[in-house]
Amino acid sequence: MKKAKLTFDGKVIELDVIVGSENEIGIDISRLKTDSGFITLDPGFKNTGSCESKVTFLDGENGVLRYRGYSIEDLANNADFLEVSHLLIYGELPTKKQYKKLLVDIQERSVLDEDVKKILETFPRSAHPMGMLSSLTSSLVAFDPSSVDVTNEEEMYDAFLNLLAKIPILVAWVFRRRRGLPLEYGDFSQGYVENITKMMFKMPNKKYVENKVVVNAINKLLILHADHEQNCSTSTVRIVGSSQAGLFASISSGISALWGRLHGGANQAVLEMLESILNDGGDISAYINKAKDKNDTFRLMGFGHRVYKNFDPRAKIIKKAAHEVLHDLGINDPILDIAKNLEIEASKDQYFIDRKLYPNVDFYSGIIYKALNIPNEMFTVMFALGRLPGWIAHWREMRTKKEPIGRPRQIYTGEKLREFISIDKR
Ligand code: ACO
Repeated sequence: MKKAKLTFDGKVIELDVIVGSENEIGIDISRLKTDSGFITLDPGFKNTGSCESKVTFLDGENGVLRYRGYSIEDLANNADFLEVSHLLIYGELPTKKQYKKLLVDIQERSVLDEDVKKILETFPRSAHPMGMLSSLTSSLVAFDPSSVDVTNEEEMYDAFLNLLAKIPILVAWVFRRRRGLPLEYGDFSQGYVENITKMMFKMPNKKYVENKVVVNAINKLLILHADHEQNCSTSTVRIVGSSQAGLFASISSGISALWGRLHGGANQAVLEMLESILNDGGDISAYINKAKDKNDTFRLMGFGHRVYKNFDPRAKIIKKAAHEVLHDLGINDPILDIAKNLEIEASKDQYFIDRKLYPNVDFYSGIIYKALNIPNEMFTVMFALGRLPGWIAHWREMRTKKEPIGRPRQIYTGEKLREFISIDKR
């Protein structure tokens, strides 16, 4: 095994070097404190690997993304979301037989306790759907408090399929509740994404007619969002799960982490930003200048990525899909032109060039969701639905590998020991 050497205060410490299957190099510092007494400091974990993982490979310099070895381009163009879910969780694309069984088993589990509706009804109609989804996911534990034995593959399979069956129902219900529509149970035997689409869009006064453009677009978006290695929400799921908190509780915290504007919440923020540019008369350069102004907290939403420093391969696929969906649905949305011009202007601007800021996955996704009649505040919920198999895959990997509890260190910079002064003397 290769070794790295760290010299500090005249002391030389040898550290193991871990080489990944794509020749990524990590210096193993897990024994550093024991061997030397000091720790490493890396706020935001910009340069810290938290685990070894077999799920997703990402090369930020070259814009490469692969799930279990398959390129995102291949999967987005050829697979369906349920196949990809199986791939992420179990490491292999399902055979026809496995796929059929998966659908049947999901269908089996696609009911919710009727009392979940009562919980849903207690939320104000104006409540943000991400908050509702996170709370409802957590509440499911109360209806099935048994914990999953992670050494038992059957129990794990049951828990994973429960999530794959029940979360789409919650998503559809949250969507319908805001619109005041009756809550639907679907029929997954008709196809996983087909059923999600039907549960969301079926109107009580009309026969439901499936629109293939809508189903295909949702399928593609879900695949593109299905995993992205150790992002903020996935790391949250892993760290919560590492305390041996249950699967549903871990996923619920992942949903909360995804909600933030710097993570999944960016897709809602992007569309709101594009709408304000349009409403302000389309002055793109004013927004670019605002984003560059260090005295202004505004950022160009949908731009920049912690890992991609060249381009985000998902953004390329989504940009093309946005064109196709708008064309197929016969929609001419000026927001798409604003987005394209913003991308062109930013790509010529030295500020964005120097910082390697390119459109990310969220930049064009909102335009598609809007064309599909999905309201802004539901965008991040759709992202959560897509990320679900990724979260499950990482939870499974972390628990089966018996990873230690996630517990970072810190460098304390506060007060030294002080004498307590009672309240009447302060
Ligand atoms: N607009 C303007 N400036 C930006 C932007 C942006 N969108 N993103 C980064 N910068 C600037 C920062 O101000 C900083 O400039 P400085 O070096 O002069 O101080 C530099 O670029 C580096 O930015 P960091 O915040 O240090 O980069 P980090 O890797 O921590 O953040 C992040 C990545 C959070 C994605 C950031 O680019 C951002 O806030 N983007 C907008 C929100 C967004 O689109 N999030 C979705 C990400 S994809 C996802 O989660 C699914």
